[in-house]
Amino acid sequence: MWYLFANSMNINIKKYLYDITCGIDFGTSNTTIAIANSVDGSITMVPLEGHHETIPSTIFFQSENSNPLFGRQAVNAYISREEGRFMRSFKRVLGTSLMNEGTIISGKQTQFETIIGPFVKHVKNKAELMADKEIHSVVAGRPVHFVDGNEKANQAAESQLKSIFSAAGFQDIRFQYEPIAAAFAHELAMDDKERLAVVMDIGGGTSDFTIMRLSGSSINKIDRQDDILANAGLRVGGNDFDRALSLACFMPLLGMGSLWGTKGLTFPSTAFFDLSELSKIQCMYTRKYKRDLAALISQSTNKTLTQRLQYIVEEELGHSLMASVEDSKINLSASEQTIADLSFIEAGLQSECSRSQFEDSLYANLVSIIDTINACVLQAGILADDISLVILTGGGTAMPIIQNLTRQLFPQAEIADANRLSSVGFGLACDARRTYLNNQTK
Ligand SMILES: Nc1ncnc2c1ncn2[C@@H]1O[C@H](COP(=O)(O)OP(=O)(O)OP(=O)(O)O)[C@@H](O)[C@H]1O
Ligand SMILES: [Mg+2]
Repeated sequence: MWYLFANSMNINIKKYLYDITCGIDFGTSNTTIAIANSVDGSITMVPLEGHHETIPSTIFFQSENSNPLFGRQAVNAYISREEGRFMRSFKRVLGTSLMNEGTIISGKQTQFETIIGPFVKHVKNKAELMADKEIHSVVAGRPVHFVDGNEKANQAAESQLKSIFSAAGFQDIRFQYEPIAAAFAHELAMDDKERLAVVMDIGGGTSDFTIMRLSGSSINKIDRQDDILANAGLRVGGNDFDRALSLACFMPLLGMGSLWGTKGLTFPSTAFFDLSELSKIQCMYTRKYKRDLAALISQSTNKTLTQRLQYIVEEELGHSLMASVEDSKINLSASEQTIADLSFIEAGLQSECSRSQFEDSLYANLVSIIDTINACVLQAGILADDISLVILTGGGTAMPIIQNLTRQLFPQAEIADANRLSSVGFGLACDARRTYLNNQTK
């Protein structure tokens, strides 16, 4: 009724509804939300946990009757070994068959929509609390490819995410490629000189690239299609780097590569790969998996090593081990060498890794990343030397090997890497302001 009344009075209904809007970067590892306000045109990152502008994309389900925990609280509950189910990297499920299959939570088959939904709602609530009003519209980030080489699965992933946002209470939902959002965030601080830029967003689940013309004078332009020369992406990111490091430096301590049986064979590798893949860890905790693994281990030659593997699976410590792997990876961005304390597996156990060992383990991933960047340059119809600005965003771009690679690929370009964990969320809110609100200010 009020809608009809407003229409007949020629009131700008969109403006009435949307004096505030937001951008959400729902990431594989971390999520951010920023709000744009029509009163002063401001864009503000929302603190999601204490002063943190990022919340780890994690959930901990304690029991059927209690509310799930999110972010750092979920991580802490898992680390302190509370009873329950810990989940992370659930963005990776979008567009895959697991989305329809679901998973068991507190003994009940549960669809991923109903797992991801409360997480999105939790983040939305935080923004609404800060804005002191409901937020109905959002520009949501998405990778260029949720799933590599399968356009149908990509479309399915986007529409699954759309229904999740809709169920969380958003009425207007638009999507933007994550690297384009990072470009918008960077553009706010640019002068009016036009620059040809490549954005490299290397996150936890995907690496995404955009080649785009940027200029401070373009920030209020509604249609930016002409400025975007190419987009490319692949499903390779920090989770894959963790897996490579785990296989190179951690799994040998649990018996990977050791002998098995009486015929000089090596211990079957499936369990080591499962333990190094975040989405597979939970599958190792079934009674059958544990029984089969115990049977394999009974024939292993080096039981000192393989019993550590058995202990991790029996005690369900897979995510703790992967957290140590991730810490080591992050340490190796700052140091040439790192030691992980694995005393939660066995007193005095450590894993020592060097940066060069880690970088060697990344060879296949790096080749795929370079191939995708080169394809993006080709698709844009330019030469790498035409690029005058590289914007690095996403946690993975802190890795020295990625920074060196960037300098080699784009030798003429200035490299900007500020706010690598928040620039996508901020840029999505810039896009939301342009899309849903009337005023646009620099
Ligand atoms: N200093 C660092 N060195 C190396 N890797 C890092 C560093 N800091 C964070 N990371 C990694 O970056 C990844 C998280 O980055 P980010 O928050 O940008 O991902 P995301 O946005 O959640 O993922 P995606 O965009 O792929 O969905 C994790 O794999 C994390 O381990
Ligand atoms: Mg990201």
